[in-house]
Amino acid sequence: MPPLDAPFPARLAESELAAYWLPFSANRAFKRRPRLIDRAEGMHYYTPDGRELIDAMSGLWCCNAGHCREPVVEAIRRQAGRLDYAPAFQTAHAPAFALASRLAKLAPGDLNHVFFCNSGSEAVDTALKIALAYHKLAGQSTRTRFISRERSYHGSCLGGTSLGGIPQNRNLFEPLLDVDLLRSTYSRERQAYARGEPAWGGDLADDLSTFLALDGASHIAALIVEPMTGSAGVFASPQGYLQRLREITRAHGILLIFDEVITGFGRLGHAFAAERYGVVPDMITFAKGVTSGAAPLGGVLVREHIHEAFMQGPEHVPELAHGFTYSGHPLGVAAANAALDLYRDEGLFERARSLEPVFADAVHGLKGFPRVVDIRSIGLAAGIDLAPIDGAPGLRGARALDAAFFDEDLVIRVVGDTLVLAPALVVSEALIAAIVGKVAHFLQGLR
Ligand SMILES: Cc1ncc(COP(=O)(O)O)c(C=O)c1O
Repeated sequence: MPPLDAPFPARLAESELAAYWLPFSANRAFKRRPRLIDRAEGMHYYTPDGRELIDAMSGLWCCNAGHCREPVVEAIRRQAGRLDYAPAFQTAHAPAFALASRLAKLAPGDLNHVFFCNSGSEAVDTALKIALAYHKLAGQSTRTRFISRERSYHGSCLGGTSLGGIPQNRNLFEPLLDVDLLRSTYSRERQAYARGEPAWGGDLADDLSTFLALDGASHIAALIVEPMTGSAGVFASPQGYLQRLREITRAHGILLIFDEVITGFGRLGHAFAAERYGVVPDMITFAKGVTSGAAPLGGVLVREHIHEAFMQGPEHVPELAHGFTYSGHPLGVAAANAALDLYRDEGLFERARSLEPVFADAVHGLKGFPRVVDIRSIGLAAGIDLAPIDGAPGLRGARALDAAFFDEDLVIRVVGDTLVLAPALVVSEALIAAIVGKVAHFLQGLR
């Protein structure tokens, strides 16, 4: 390994590339033409061969305040030199309490308690376990099934994989937990080129009522939804949909979990999307933006009555047999406290809100470009569907990813044949124009 302050090598030999198995990546294609990044700053990445790339994806939906922000870097540096680690089982350090209190204040309603973990996947599996245990404690141990929605992504642990509504993410691993999926709320015929929440589709929430009328609710523990389905390609929930799900779940004693791993921390213009929709779910899962991506940290926000159900019984006994060695890791906590300062001091959630129409105007300007068949935008996120190549789904998207990275100095995300843009909340209007200009440019020549 070269020293950390020396540039990383611009090229890696085949033998050096062999051992690392990249997640959710086409490894063989990647290793033929690696997309290597050396360092980052603000809205940019720098490659080992000296190119400056615009990061149009906030890392992977996480670096919401931009990269390598000095207050966050400094907080991690200082924390690493003071307390690198303290067990979260049976001991704790004060900043974790401060962070939990701040998150509870940011969350709506009485989502007052926070269980920490390290990632969105762990947050989802934690929420599922809390739901199961809660019902058991409440004497409703038949409530063991979960419901989610087609096209959803809830992380890659076994619980979240079971609840995921993207078939390619499940097929190789089945049988998983037996779950029920609500219909996707996306219809290209009825919602094409939607800005914000589509007007059509709110009534699809009544699928849940129909399902419960047929099957009963007494075996359902929880419904988990992403307020905006992110990983599958940016699908906003239709107007009224989430509010209706809240009414139905409340009426049937089903816990409602908002998976806000992507929508949390400003992506939709609020600390949590729950605020945008005026809905108080029973739990919120979060990760990613909580640290602006600078260190791993995730967690679950839990409403008062759920937490209270656990705080019974003998006081010397742990109330929840669940947790992780790195729950509330000091470096993640330090990064999160510093990131929350930045979001507050720079008004970044409000900034995202005011940039939403500017971003929407820019991305919808791509309508009519070659092979573009739909564009969806909400907050600072957009999905641009390209027509697939006959017999080779995903190939056009893969070509777009390379064209962006190698020809346009732009990092986007590609899901199948959908291009995804989700710039950091610090993005300027000029950079929004530059990002969309680069996409427009490569679309002209894309095969
Ligand atoms: C909605 C949602 N839930 C969970 C996850 C999993 O998060 P992680 O990759 O941190 O485990 C993701 C990741 O993109 C996500 O978008």
